[in-house]
Amino acid sequence: MIPVNEPLLDGNEKRYLAECIDSGWISSEGPFVERFEHEFAARVGRRHAVAVCNGSMALDAAVVALGLGPGDEVILPSFTIISCAAAIVRAGAVPVLVDSDPVTWNMVPEQVAARIGPRTKAIMVVHLYGLPCDMAPLLALADRHGLAVIEDAAEMHGQAWRGRPCGSFGTVATFSFYPNKHVTTGEGGMLVCDDDALANKLRGLRNLCFAPPRRFVHEALGWNLRMTNLQAALGCAQLERLDEFVARKRAMGARYTAALAGTPGLQLPLARNADAENIYWVYGLVLDDAVPLDATQAMQRLAGAGIGCRPFFWPMHEQPVLRRLGLFAGESYPVAERLARRGFYVPSGLALTERQIDAVAVSLRHLMRASLPG
Ligand SMILES: Cc1ncc(COP(=O)(O)O)c(C=O)c1O
Repeated sequence: MIPVNEPLLDGNEKRYLAECIDSGWISSEGPFVERFEHEFAARVGRRHAVAVCNGSMALDAAVVALGLGPGDEVILPSFTIISCAAAIVRAGAVPVLVDSDPVTWNMVPEQVAARIGPRTKAIMVVHLYGLPCDMAPLLALADRHGLAVIEDAAEMHGQAWRGRPCGSFGTVATFSFYPNKHVTTGEGGMLVCDDDALANKLRGLRNLCFAPPRRFVHEALGWNLRMTNLQAALGCAQLERLDEFVARKRAMGARYTAALAGTPGLQLPLARNADAENIYWVYGLVLDDAVPLDATQAMQRLAGAGIGCRPFFWPMHEQPVLRRLGLFAGESYPVAERLARRGFYVPSGLALTERQIDAVAVSLRHLMRASLPG
């Protein structure tokens, strides 16, 4: 089986983990946490970084720290992970959706403009699959209407929009360090921002809102979102190699694209646009309408050939849990719906070899030849 994701952990990971164990520092109080925060903030060009337990909870903390709550509307793409809408809904705020671009798979700024109303308080900008969102119109809209920007850069380590790092744009930005990300800590996340007060709020929310003068007396409710020293040790070792990892992912993407170019039935990821070169968080494919298989069926066939795949996200407006809350009744986002049904990704982890890429490409070409009429 060629696994859908296998991380590369052959730098300083073991050495830094051994330091944790030898020193006894394994909790969030250990020195790697602050070091990881400093190094990460510097890499993204922000004043503050706050390490947390995962990218989903980073979004929850971002929404609450910005004071978003009942009556407030937050605009986000329908085509994203549930974490984005969940953070908004859990805070009591209202998610308002837009559709995505069929080529970049990112949210469409013109649709954001159309959905801004008197209750709109924030835009949740989600960069997906390897290319950044079109930041110029999104930032202009936020500026013109006085909106906060929550920038979900979970998949965008090392990516930039017109040379400016992803994660440097939002009022607050979030990252994930799940093992399929360019930098992993096993589980983990990061919030970054420039505002001192916002950073303090995030640190409080991360740590149960402990506050002076009396420990265990609380003026507000937070969570335990802390990252351990063990996770941060992994993060420091991984971050040292981010440039190398981005280059490796780009080389992998280029190899897949060269091997698959011209294969009928497959839409390949866009290698670059005017603003950025793809970093291939994962190598995604969308089946043409002429292919008489949907993504689930295609993935089943590929699994039979020993190839691990995963489906694309499922749109927020088609989530049973959100529909049951009375959200999105009668709404349709055709691009999101199509990407969910016809999109999937093939093995994309940093440990993937060139031979494995070539083998996946051969299987994909066979599958398309066998499936397409004529
Ligand atoms: C765009 C996006 N946001 C948020 C998350 C959530 O991150 P985590 O898995 O660390 O909770 C992910 C995870 O893949 C993601 O892709």
